[in-house]
Amino acid sequence: MTERYNVEQIRRYWTEQARLHKQSADASWSDRPVIDMEIQEISRRLADGDRVLDVGCANGYSTVQLAANKRIHIRGLDYIPEMIKNARERLNGLGGRLAGDVEFDVEDITALSEPDDAYDKVVVIRVLINLADWEQQVRGLRECARVLRPGGLLLLSEATVQGWQKMNAFRREWGLPDIPMPPFNRYVNQDEVVSAATPTLELLELSNFASTYYVGTRILKPLLAKALGGPVNVANPDTEWNRWFSQWPAIGEYGTQKLFVFQKQAGTSQPGMEVPAGNKEVGE
Ligand SMILES: C[S@@+](CC[C@H](N)C(=O)[O-])C[C@H]1O[C@@H](n2cnc3c(N)ncnc32)[C@H](O)[C@@H]1O
Repeated sequence: MTERYNVEQIRRYWTEQARLHKQSADASWSDRPVIDMEIQEISRRLADGDRVLDVGCANGYSTVQLAANKRIHIRGLDYIPEMIKNARERLNGLGGRLAGDVEFDVEDITALSEPDDAYDKVVVIRVLINLADWEQQVRGLRECARVLRPGGLLLLSEATVQGWQKMNAFRREWGLPDIPMPPFNRYVNQDEVVSAATPTLELLELSNFASTYYVGTRILKPLLAKALGGPVNVANPDTEWNRWFSQWPAIGEYGTQKLFVFQKQAGTSQPGMEVPAGNKEVGE
């Protein structure tokens, strides 16, 4: 089993990504079609006038896209100062050409200094999976719930153990090796996330928005390349093949990446910080 990064190694990894990629979406992930699908999925759940917190916003690539067409007030937070510097530079470069208004600040998802009940929507895209253990993941989840107003939505896009294992089972049927979890990630168990969120947050929907994309790019693409040979770089997401599959309707539960739509319940007291059991290290 691959050794997981500790807190310091994860922080170093994201600092390097910020320095290396500056304002490029690659600072967050090289799989741009999935990033664009996430933006689309989240964008259609935002409304003009919403107060939105985007936690773990990296260099603001997605934050700014979310504000491009909706008149929202969005605040992007990340714990890496270089990411926020790059995000602010991106914003300055836009010269106010957005429908919504945007600001950025340095903050840690596990200890937000935002007030309680302040936001209509909280967006978290691939951030819990970058925390060092289950305790920190639960802490981050609860901080996001705390700053959400009752009735507000938490839009949480994370890599799940269930989606990852189902995709790898499909690959194995066709003689393809498993795709490992990167060492800086701890994919979440979707059932444990839902149970840790309860009763403050109720799950309204678990969207498998990327399922067809994963089948197209992680199973069909390598199989075709293997069968036909030729110059295809299977791992390169910047291809017409990937862009085309990102436009297909989602079928099945084969996407590692899933969107949880949670609603904060009125009158539920914030649960204590005791952490429910779960999320044991998952073998690859
Ligand atoms: C995979 S990137 C996701 C970026 C962005 N949400 C997006 O939509 O592309 C993960 C980001 O989470 C940030 N992050 C990791 N741990 C964090 C923490 N404890 N508090 C705030 N941000 C954190 C990293 O610095 C990195 O920018």
